Amino acid sequence: MSDRLRYGVIGAGTMGCEHLRFLRQIPEAEVVAIADPHPASRDAAADLAPDVHLFEDYRDLLAGPDVDALLIATPNHTHIDVLPDALATGKHILVEKPLCTTVEDCQTIAKAAADHPGVLWVAMEYRYMPPMARLIEEVRAGTIGQLRMLAVREHRYPFLAKVGDWNRLARNTGGTMVEKCCHFFDLMRLIVAAEPTRIYASGAQDVNHLDEVYDGERADMIDNAYVIVDFANGVRSMLDLCMFAEASPDQDQVVAVGDKGKIESGVPSSNVAICRRPDLVDTVHIPVADELLAAGEHHGSTYFEHLGFLRAVRDGRPPEVTIRDGLMSVAMGVAAERSIAEGRPVEMRELGL
Ligand SMILES: NC(=O)c1ccc[n+]([C@@H]2O[C@H](COP(=O)([O-])OP(=O)(O)OC[C@H]3O[C@@H](n4cnc5c(N)ncnc54)[C@H](O)[C@@H]3O)[C@@H](O)[C@H]2O)c1
Repeated sequence: MSDRLRYGVIGAGTMGCEHLRFLRQIPEAEVVAIADPHPASRDAAADLAPDVHLFEDYRDLLAGPDVDALLIATPNHTHIDVLPDALATGKHILVEKPLCTTVEDCQTIAKAAADHPGVLWVAMEYRYMPPMARLIEEVRAGTIGQLRMLAVREHRYPFLAKVGDWNRLARNTGGTMVEKCCHFFDLMRLIVAAEPTRIYASGAQDVNHLDEVYDGERADMIDNAYVIVDFANGVRSMLDLCMFAEASPDQDQVVAVGDKGKIESGVPSSNVAICRRPDLVDTVHIPVADELLAAGEHHGSTYFEHLGFLRAVRDGRPPEVTIRDGLMSVAMGVAAERSIAEGRPVEMRELGL
């Protein structure tokens, strides 16, 4: 391996280009090849990473110039085809969330990856948003005593337009609970430090994309939901998702409450309020550099995640976000989708987990 980790990027749409903007800011990283079948995506990528090898077919990238690490940012439903080919190269892999769109596909990948010699890391950017990272740190340090409740709220804009509108159909995305909310379920598991046992959810597609039809199929992505998750250690958690709430002062909020206090963390305010019962102890503002905020949609988190990925590769450390994390975040989304569809609590053991 040269001094710099050489990346091959597969999929150069919205998220692939966000990765390219962050990789440009990391001296230890170098993008040497990009594959995307869509000419406009290849053009956009070439603007961000001139002088790289461009491919239409990712299999040519895999067989082509020597790369050390593969970054996969193709649509959710393509991960199940791209990942086995990527794994066959033995190279380090950073794959965008969700790992796959179904539990079965995630399990297929987990099996294929069992002896993978490289780092295999599922991108879960919300963990790396600096105010969220601070909340996680405080919970782990015992600031709020024993964690009892964890609330996650995202109130945001509707799904953006994507290449080929793949994100309008649950059969491509896994459904909103998988596509979007795998991030929140991953945060829950990380902070609660236990496995979920039961999920009950209520949600619907009430406002967004109601008149959109794609080749005869109606857009069917849920745009609002409440999801309650019971964890094996007795902690309860709740997700409040609304995708027709652009004007929210904080798009994302996480509130962790323990027996001795609570922590509230918000994005984009980047404020973290730390309370020890009965008082507010402090409100800390976590600064994020302007160039990191400007490079993407995720409050600089993609940059910090890349630094973690690089450390894992360089130091031979295990990935911070594992295949198991990717699988469980999808499984929780699948359970929430099922709970909404069937109007009943879903036990995680129904999914074999
Ligand atoms: N972590 C996050 O917060 C976050 C945010 C947005 C998207 N994502 C994830 O990133 C992935 C890509 O989403 P996006 O928003 O960039 O979608 P997008 O539609 O903007 O881009 C996807 C790109 O992949 C290309 N593509 C499709 N099939 C391909 C293949 N076989 N080989 C190579 N390229 C292929 C498309 O042509 C397109 O350019 C998805 O898994 C999505 O869930 C993650």
